[in-house]
Amino acid sequence: MNHSIEEKISHLRKTIEDHEKKYYIDNDPQISDYEFDMLIKELQEMERRYPEFVVPESPTQRVGEQPLDGFVSVSHQTPMLSLDNCYSLTELKSFEVRLKKIIPEEKIHFVAELKIDGLGISITYKEGKFTQAITRGDGIRGDDVTANVKTIKSLPLVIDDNRDIEIRGEIFLPFSSFHQINTDRQSLGEPLFVNPRNAAAGSIRLLDPKEVTVRNLDLFLYTIDITGEDGLDQWESLMLLKGLGFKINPISQPCDTLDDVVSFHKTWNERRDELGYDVDGIVVKVDSKDQRQQLGSTAKFPKWAISYKFPARQATTKINDIIIQVGRTGALTPVAVLEPVKLSGITISRSTLHNEDEIRRKDIRIGDQVLIERSGDVIPKVVSVMKERRTGKEVEFVFPKSCPVCASTIFKPEDEAVSRCFNPSCPAKLRESLLHFASRRAMNIEGLGEALVNQLHESGIVKSIPDLYSLHLQDLENLERMGPKSSRNLLDEIERSKTNELFRLIFALGIRFVGERTAQILAKHFRNLESLFFVSGDTLKDINDVGPKVAESIVFFFRQPENRDLIDRLKLAGLNFLAKKEQGTFHKPVLEGRSFVLTGTLSALTRDSAKEKIESLGGRVVAAVSSKTDYVVVGEAAGSKREKAVKLGISLLNEEAFLKMLNQDNY
Ligand code: IVH
Repeated sequence: MNHSIEEKISHLRKTIEDHEKKYYIDNDPQISDYEFDMLIKELQEMERRYPEFVVPESPTQRVGEQPLDGFVSVSHQTPMLSLDNCYSLTELKSFEVRLKKIIPEEKIHFVAELKIDGLGISITYKEGKFTQAITRGDGIRGDDVTANVKTIKSLPLVIDDNRDIEIRGEIFLPFSSFHQINTDRQSLGEPLFVNPRNAAAGSIRLLDPKEVTVRNLDLFLYTIDITGEDGLDQWESLMLLKGLGFKINPISQPCDTLDDVVSFHKTWNERRDELGYDVDGIVVKVDSKDQRQQLGSTAKFPKWAISYKFPARQATTKINDIIIQVGRTGALTPVAVLEPVKLSGITISRSTLHNEDEIRRKDIRIGDQVLIERSGDVIPKVVSVMKERRTGKEVEFVFPKSCPVCASTIFKPEDEAVSRCFNPSCPAKLRESLLHFASRRAMNIEGLGEALVNQLHESGIVKSIPDLYSLHLQDLENLERMGPKSSRNLLDEIERSKTNELFRLIFALGIRFVGERTAQILAKHFRNLESLFFVSGDTLKDINDVGPKVAESIVFFFRQPENRDLIDRLKLAGLNFLAKKEQGTFHKPVLEGRSFVLTGTLSALTRDSAKEKIESLGGRVVAAVSSKTDYVVVGEAAGSKREKAVKLGISLLNEEAFLKMLNQDNY
């Protein structure tokens, strides 16, 4: 009896899965929505009566009952790389030239695909069942968003293949769903999403899968990797994905020559509005897996693929006003308030004008008709003013002489285009700094968003970043819209942030030009925040990937007394200052308390940089050798200091030994 019920349930599931595929993937429904709903109802009813036969991959189980607590960060099996970009035919041709240099003998075929403007995702199947979905994240680690991805109806939860399979693709929000979401948000008075990609990103991060399911996310798959087996050619991969019931983009095309690629690009640039979802170009991939293997990858992207972007989208509109925004670094940015206009499916009502010079250069006036453009970077910009349309009523914009937020005088550093407010306690700067500090990629203090930052700041409870770490429950509970539970949660979040990895803190400090990647490099290299206090520009420039502009900014930041003070206070508050290896163990810089005398000429380092290095590790450099000296570093042609050291029995270090000491990894 039970056997036949189990069979009946499983048969019903299979029928539903087939109809789901017909509907969501093939766009070819075989039954009406009503009939489909009835099948689902029937299955639900049977599962209710026989709960022992409910399985996670049942079509009724797409939406989990319980909201999640948060997302767990998970490493990718292989890094999720990004793609090299190009914007012109010439650049595309040089891509082919680069390929031919590495593979001169063979003909190279391509696969052209659309570049979906969405979110990269990695999905695993084990024994024919959907098991896990991880966001791209930083390419190395992403967030486990399994429960949310499970709600995407075009994704099969069971496949007819028992191997361990990892597939990758792009989650996106069709324009129709995007408009629906924004219409709903507007009626609820909630902030609108700027574009489908942001809306998709916001949706995949919702904690309640029930909310995710109504967002109608969708996805296209383009990569398949089967554990223990050789890869496939790209076209074969797409066909295998399709055969397994995954949704691939039907507008993908094998191209025997680069000319075919070019016409694919041309066609879809012209027809992109027909697609119903946002694309920002095409992706050109070398088809053959053997050729791809020969070509290899850089740290950032594969050499066998490139994205050939579509030209930016343009529209005309009117500038109704120009306002000034004050950023975290005090930069004053003029922003054009536009007559709302549609551009590639989204409504644009603001556009950055960058700086005063830009306004002058383009002669932008309030009331002007302008040509605006939205390119790959999403933020629309004013391309030019349509001067022939001027009526004479346009008003020139007068750049303020003082900060519109704190009224202090503003300055424009000589070699910079941007005016800045240098008042360290300008409320706008503090607000932006707090927001950046708490943001997800920085200290990731969940719950500390714009509204709360404003309240904390306006009520005077938080006057600087370290104040966050001395907040009391009472302070928070007294704020509007903060109950005991949300206050407790926020305090817990703040407490948790103390143990964040060092690079997050470095990034959170908001040092100019120091993005997440540079923060990672600095953390890895210096391993202790305090080692950066005395670092020299030269030492920084010696590190790969840190350019002179970035180096200068870092040195400047750590020399500012107010920043040093801020960091001291963060240390007192108990924030982790150490890179991972040292975290949790008592840390002492290797040279702390040691005194050094330098004599003679070193070949690998200048005397200044040797001094910086010693100091960055906690040591001191003194001029004369005495009985208190710990080490004398002896270079070429060392003189009397060496002799004195020998006399006093002080350790001598030749250059090799000295460098070894500096480069010790486990200090
Ligand atoms: S292939 C190693 N194909 O674009 C290359 N990516 O800017 C893996 N994307 O991270 C990507 N459409 O998230 C590939 N047809 C397509 C794509 C695509 C969109 C995304 C992907 C990637 C990003 C790079």
